[in-house]
Amino acid sequence: MFDAGDSLVSADAKRRGSFNEQNERKAGLMADYLQAARPEAVALGELDLIAGPSAAASLLASRGIVPVATNVRFKDPAVKTVPFVAWETSGYRFLAVNLFAPRAAAGLEGLEIQDPLAALDSALRQAGLVDVLLVSCHRFDDALMKRLAEKDGPPRIAIDTDGGTRVRSASSVTRTVFAKPPPRGTDLLTAELYLKRDAPYWYRMDRHADAVRRGKGVEEEETAAVECSLVDFRTRRLFGNVKGDPGVLAKIEEYKAWTRGAALSAVPDDPNAPKYVGAENCGSCHEEQLANWKSTYHADAWESLVKDPDGGAADPECVSCHVSGFLQPGGSRKIEETGPFRGVQCESCHAPLAKHPGGAKYPKVNEAVCVTCHSETRDPHFDFAKYLKYATCTKPHDRATNRVPR
Ligand code: HEC
Ligand code: HEC
Ligand code: HEC
Ligand code: HEC
Repeated sequence: MFDAGDSLVSADAKRRGSFNEQNERKAGLMADYLQAARPEAVALGELDLIAGPSAAASLLASRGIVPVATNVRFKDPAVKTVPFVAWETSGYRFLAVNLFAPRAAAGLEGLEIQDPLAALDSALRQAGLVDVLLVSCHRFDDALMKRLAEKDGPPRIAIDTDGGTRVRSASSVTRTVFAKPPPRGTDLLTAELYLKRDAPYWYRMDRHADAVRRGKGVEEEETAAVECSLVDFRTRRLFGNVKGDPGVLAKIEEYKAWTRGAALSAVPDDPNAPKYVGAENCGSCHEEQLANWKSTYHADAWESLVKDPDGGAADPECVSCHVSGFLQPGGSRKIEETGPFRGVQCESCHAPLAKHPGGAKYPKVNEAVCVTCHSETRDPHFDFAKYLKYATCTKPHDRATNRVPR
C-alpha cells in the first residue's frame, strides 16, 4: 500500500510562497511513479484528495488509479475513491483501508466523514476472510488509535500517517502493530514494513489464519501483548534512492535538477533586505551565547541532513529549515553558499544582524519564530514553553540529556 499522507499540499511551501510549482510537479511525478509501480492500494490524506495540486484524486484517475478512502464521502462527484482493496500475497489475504478521524473534516468543505470504526466493520464484512489488515490512519489521536487497536478482528498494522498519536514506531498492542513514519517536512516518504516469518507476531498471524481457515473464531487466540521486535519498519524518501522504472527514474532526475536550478532562481531576493551574517560573526561579541548554542541540537541541524541517506542536504525543501536564512530575504540562494549559515543559527531566532546596530534591542524571541519550522505537520508535539528550555542560548546544555522528553 502506498500512502503519501498530505505531502502534496504543503503549508510550509505555501507560507514561503515559492514552491507551488514544485508541488504541482511533485504531484505529477507521484502519479507517474504510481502508474509504473502499481502498488495494490493507494491512499492519500484529506488535503491531497480534495485540495491538492490539480486535485490529486483526479490526477491519479487520469492514470487509472483509484485511491482508497473508507469513511469519507466527497461532495464533488469527480473525486472517485473505493472503500477498500483486498488482495493475496504469499498465501495471505490482505485488506487495505484508509480511515480519517472526524477532525480531518475541520476547516475543509466538500467532504463528510463517517465513524471510522463502523466503516471498518463494513469493509471487513464485505471483504470476507482477511489474514492481515493494513490501516492508514489520518489525523488520529490517542483515543481513536486505542479503539482501533483494541477492536476485534484480524491482526493489523496501523500506520499513523501524520504522527498525531503517541504510539511508538513499530510497537504493538494485542493484535495491532503500529507504524509511524517520521515527519519529514514536505517530502514524500514510502514506509516499508517487513514481516518476519520467524518472529512471534508472524506466528500469531499464522495461527490466526489457520484458526479462520478451520472455521474457528479469533477468540482462541491469546491476547497477551507482543513485543515490538516483530516487524522491521523502514522509511525512505520516494524521490531519494528509488529503484524501478527507468522512465520514472529519468523524470525524478529531471525534477531534482529543476528543484536545484529553476525553482531556486524563481525565489527573488530583496536587495534592500538586511543580510544574514552567520553565528561566528555574532560570536565575536557574544562568545558565551555562541558556546551555549553549540550545545543545542539546533547546531546539528545541518549534520542531520548530511546523514540523511536520501540526500536531504541536496534538497532545497529540507535545507530551508535546517540552515539560517535560506531563500529568505537577505539569505543565501544556493545550497553551495549556505556554508556559514548551516544549522539553525542565532539569526533564525533573533533576525539578521542589521536589525541590531551597536547592540540595539532585538524583538523578543516568540513562538511565531519557532513554528515557521516547528510547523504542525513537521512537529505536531511542539510546545513553546517546554521546548524553549532545551533550545535557548542563554544557558549551556548537556548534550547527552538535552532531548525534549516525549
Ligand atoms: C529555521 C528553522 C527552525 C527554527 C526557527 C526553530 N527550530 Fe528548533 N529545530 C529545527 C530543526 C531542523 C531541528 C532538528 C535539529 C537536529 O538536526 O537535531 C530543531 C530541533 C529543536 C529542538 C530539539 C528537539 C528534540 O528532539 O529534543 C528543540 C527543543 C527546538 N528545536 C526548539 C525550538 C524553539 C523553542 C524555537 C523557537 C524559539 C525553535 N526551535 C526554532 C528547526 C528550527
Ligand atoms: C518546515 C521545516 C522543515 C522541513 C521542510 C524539514 N525539516 Fe527536518 N526538522 C525540522 C524540525 C523542526 C525538526 C525537529 C523536530 C523533530 O524532532 O521532529 C527536524 C528534524 C529532522 C531530523 C531529525 C534530527 C534528529 O536527529 O533529531 C532529520 C533527520 C530531518 N529533520 C531531516 C529532514 C529532511 C531529510 C528533510 C527534507 C525531506 C527535512 N528534514 C525537512 C524542520 C524541517
Ligand atoms: C532557538 C532560538 C535561539 C537561538 C538559535 C539563539 N538564541 Fe539567543 N536568545 C534566545 C532567547 C529565547 C533569549 C532570551 C531573551 C528573549 O526572549 O529574546 C535569547 C537571548 C540572547 C541574548 C541576551 C543575553 C542573554 O544571554 O540573555 C543574546 C546576547 C543572544 N541571545 C545571542 C545569541 C547568539 C549569539 C546566538 C547564536 C550563537 C543565539 N542567541 C541563538 C533564543 C535563541
Ligand atoms: C559588535 C558587537 C556585536 C555583534 C557582532 C553582535 N552583538 Fe548582540 N549585542 C551587542 C551589545 C553591545 C549588546 C548590548 C549589551 C549586552 O547586553 O551585552 C548586545 C545585545 C544582544 C542581545 C540582547 C539584547 C536584545 O536585543 O534583546 C541579543 C539577543 C543579541 N545581542 C543578539 C545578537 C546576534 C544574534 C548577533 C549576530 C547576528 C549579535 N548580537 C551580534 C553587541 C554585538
